[in-house]
Amino acid sequence: MDFEFSDEQRMTIDGARRFAAERLAPVVAELDEKGEVNLEALKELGSLGYLGMTVPEEYGGSALGAVAYAGSMVELSKADAGTAVAVSVQNSLVNDAIVHFGTEKQKKEYLPKLAGGEWIGCFSLTEAGAGSDPASMVATAVRDGGDYVLNGTKNFTTSGAIADAIVVFVRCDPQPGGKGLSAFLLTKDAAGFQVGKHENKMGIRTSSTTEMVFSDCRLPAEALLGEEGKGLKIALSTLDGGRIGIAAQAIGIAEAALDESVRYAKEREQFGKPIAELEGIQFLLADMATDVELAKTMLFKVAWLKDSGHKRFTKEAAMLKLFASEMAHRVCHKAVQIHGGYGFMKEYKVERLYRDQRITEIYEGTSEIQRVVIARNILG
Ligand code: CAA
Repeated sequence: MDFEFSDEQRMTIDGARRFAAERLAPVVAELDEKGEVNLEALKELGSLGYLGMTVPEEYGGSALGAVAYAGSMVELSKADAGTAVAVSVQNSLVNDAIVHFGTEKQKKEYLPKLAGGEWIGCFSLTEAGAGSDPASMVATAVRDGGDYVLNGTKNFTTSGAIADAIVVFVRCDPQPGGKGLSAFLLTKDAAGFQVGKHENKMGIRTSSTTEMVFSDCRLPAEALLGEEGKGLKIALSTLDGGRIGIAAQAIGIAEAALDESVRYAKEREQFGKPIAELEGIQFLLADMATDVELAKTMLFKVAWLKDSGHKRFTKEAAMLKLFASEMAHRVCHKAVQIHGGYGFMKEYKVERLYRDQRITEIYEGTSEIQRVVIARNILG
């Protein structure tokens, strides 16, 4: 399959593929086992321009756009979906939130460091009691003279332990509901902030997931990101772009599972011939390839919509994320099936892909939430 990429997009995606093969693939199994982040490789991706792909050049970004970003995310995810999610969060959730809602001062202070990989960023929205329904969050920011004082615990924050810059959402208005939420931008050395519990996860174990604890964390009013009370809108519109990144991650995982399965089916002999010659296996592979191809086509359509900048793409991003993540589930399931008992063993890559895929149906909005978003959009 090929798309009409520009030379720049093609070179960027090819570069990501080479980086993934040289710097991620050789160590991913070991890091997955230990549950460790490949921070060195992540920062290197920054120096190569992959952490500032939608950041304008004037703020130190590579400004390569959403299509190049989506294609690069697929390639990185094929090798190491944990490192890839950190790339997705940095580009789609942190940088984009600052590009669209930050003040000039915030852009100048944060974007060059994030885009170049000097800083890693995180997006802290979820709480223990507020996952699918962020409007029910209880962490607060109380105005005190010229400052805001933040209190509360966020959880399941991707890149929490390695983050230098934090976008956090808290409640400024004690009234329940989404209207009282606001976004803040801070660095990890802010007094009163500390990283909390580190999660031990089923998959994407080469990414860090932590609690973020705010105890009388005093921030100047200029740390507000966007307007007070607009936090939920900022979060949800930023997540539209984030869902492109997670869909690309799911597609990369699925494509890797397909590649492994094709290779294995040609090598593995049963009943006196390679299992690739059995129609039962061929039908599985045909369905897997069709699924991946369809999702990829949709990925670049939605990324193009984002690049073209003329239209809100909430519904399309939700459809893409829903389809791509559930597609990856189907494909990884079949990949393990084709590998038989070996697919259940850690020596085989499909075992990790099967685990890594699972979260793509959950984070940045569960499949059920994507269906809510799609239904609301088509019903008007
Ligand atoms: N763009 C711009 N504005 C939007 C928007 C969008 N995509 N979606 C909603 N809004 C606006 C609405 O118009 C509304 O504005 P008004 O107040 O002016 O009317 C406001 O935002 C609130 O929207 P809703 O009333 O629709 O909000 P809701 O409370 O009913 O929730 C929801 C809707 C779809 C369920 C939403 O809460 C949602 O998407 N939940 C899932 C949360 C999620 O994805 N969490 C991911 C955590 S981050 C993460 O996972 C990162 C990681 O680690 C990798």
